[in-house]
Amino acid sequence: MRMLHRLLQPPGRRACGEPWRVHPAKFAGVRRAPSRGAPSGPPRSLPRAPSISFCPLPRAPSIPPCSLRGCAVPPCPPAGAGVRTAYWVGRWHVRRPARPAPCRVPRPFRSAPSGGAPSCPALPPAQSTASRWPSGTASMARRSLFSPGAVDGVREGRRPAHGELLRMTTSGVSSVLAARLATRAAPDPLWRHTELILTVGGGDLIQLSIGDPDLPTPAHILEAARVALQPGLVRYTHWQGLPELRAAIADALARDVGVRYAADEVVVTAGAEQALFVALLALVDPGDEVLFADPYFHALPRLVHIAGGVWKPVPTHEAEGFLLRPEAVERHVGPRTKVLVVVSPANPTGAVLPRDVVDGLADVARRHDLLVITDEVYARILYDGARHYSIAALPEMRSRTVLVGGFSKTYSMTGFRLGYLAAPADVIAGLHSLKEPMDICASAVAQRAGLAALTGPHDFLPAYLATYDTRRRVLMAGLDGMGISYARPAGGFFLLANIAPLGLGSVAFAQRVLAEARVVVFPGVMASTRDGYVRLSWLQPEDRLREGLARLGAFVERLRHEPAREPGASQPMPPAQ
Ligand SMILES: Cc1ncc(COP(=O)(O)O)c(C=O)c1O
Repeated sequence: MRMLHRLLQPPGRRACGEPWRVHPAKFAGVRRAPSRGAPSGPPRSLPRAPSISFCPLPRAPSIPPCSLRGCAVPPCPPAGAGVRTAYWVGRWHVRRPARPAPCRVPRPFRSAPSGGAPSCPALPPAQSTASRWPSGTASMARRSLFSPGAVDGVREGRRPAHGELLRMTTSGVSSVLAARLATRAAPDPLWRHTELILTVGGGDLIQLSIGDPDLPTPAHILEAARVALQPGLVRYTHWQGLPELRAAIADALARDVGVRYAADEVVVTAGAEQALFVALLALVDPGDEVLFADPYFHALPRLVHIAGGVWKPVPTHEAEGFLLRPEAVERHVGPRTKVLVVVSPANPTGAVLPRDVVDGLADVARRHDLLVITDEVYARILYDGARHYSIAALPEMRSRTVLVGGFSKTYSMTGFRLGYLAAPADVIAGLHSLKEPMDICASAVAQRAGLAALTGPHDFLPAYLATYDTRRRVLMAGLDGMGISYARPAGGFFLLANIAPLGLGSVAFAQRVLAEARVVVFPGVMASTRDGYVRLSWLQPEDRLREGLARLGAFVERLRHEPAREPGASQPMPPAQ
């Protein structure tokens, strides 16, 4: 059985699964720098490059220009411009001959195996190199910003010396970064969407898109943060977080979720999103497949992609309440499938997995030896009598599960950036080398506020839940009135409204409703490989929500009277200006 801890070797020299041992002088073009008698270090004309470790990974594929009609991605510059490389490796001076310049034009993000939209058919799959990457324990170093393909002169299979560096090219470091980011963290459509909203801006915009609770952070939490702002308290904490906060999180998990962790089995993070990121970096080796429900939390594909994994969306359907069916998961399990991410209650669908479904998913995980990340940030935001069941609480699941939780949603603490993960102790030991270099520790002030949140009064919560529930019903009634279908959400802050019959893709819909009705909705295609939905949230005061629905209703009515379009026709996001 694949237990989590076996995947995590102790910190140290584990970046590529084996030590770097080949001397740089073995590589063509390397000559020794003058040592005795001559001035040491690089000549004045050639600046010494920073010493940055990286692993010998394949070059980024050169990417053809996009041939999609109307695609805003500019073509690559003509090949042959030539890149000359010269750099220092410790005392070794490396020269590389000119070679054709790879395309440095950032390409749109594309990594859905099934071709996520918005997509550009000319692009090779972003993960095409993944299977050629060295296998072994997931590691930080090979995920350096400067790893595969960013460093000129690093050929497949060659192992550079420890401390080898970022190349200095005639085209400059920034182009290296651009090329690196083009394959690793390419511009994503959500960013463009956000830019667009900011551009349109204005006080009368009604936000029905984001998951940022508008109800105030309870006063005792703010007071704890204020008290924490004093000398001696605003210092680094243990990398895992304050012991008393970890103990409080462990108690809360035992009480609310039914899984018992020791305080040392908890790591406090900068939001649940960082917890997800750390968990994926820890568990996913390049080429490993990660399964999750589609529609999905929009950050998941990018987090998996950055971790070097391949994300495999498992379709869920409106008619089934967007429940992640164990049979569907099982159909998607392949030889490289390693991790199942379970999000319940779910963003963007509001689906809450019932006990039998969670049981079924656990069964699939056990039988196929899958590791599980369970994202439970909405565990306490439930409606219609729904109950939350944590997969970690089921027999034999604790040892193969990383549980992710947060403070943002329950306590209206999004800006504090506070979350956590909980996992068996030997897994936590392996996480040190991933989490600690990221941020040393979560904010000490936020941690003290989080401690107050968990240990303080919770009498505000029923009132908050009642308010959210009222708004949820207002939203559902508004959509009913417009004749727009949706799956009834049982948890969280969102639902997906089915706009496919209106004949406009979700991006075009979102853009037009923004421009024409000044209502912000979230294009479903940014959280799914399929189009036809927009995500709506109910995190506005009721009067604003009603006003937003009235505007949305008028817009939908106008759409219905427009000349017929091809149903579900999608449009690509416009380029950012
Ligand atoms: C499912 C899910 N997980 C994680 C997060 C991130 O939450 P946090 O603010 O704690 O980083 C969100 C935020 O919307 C979310 O919807």
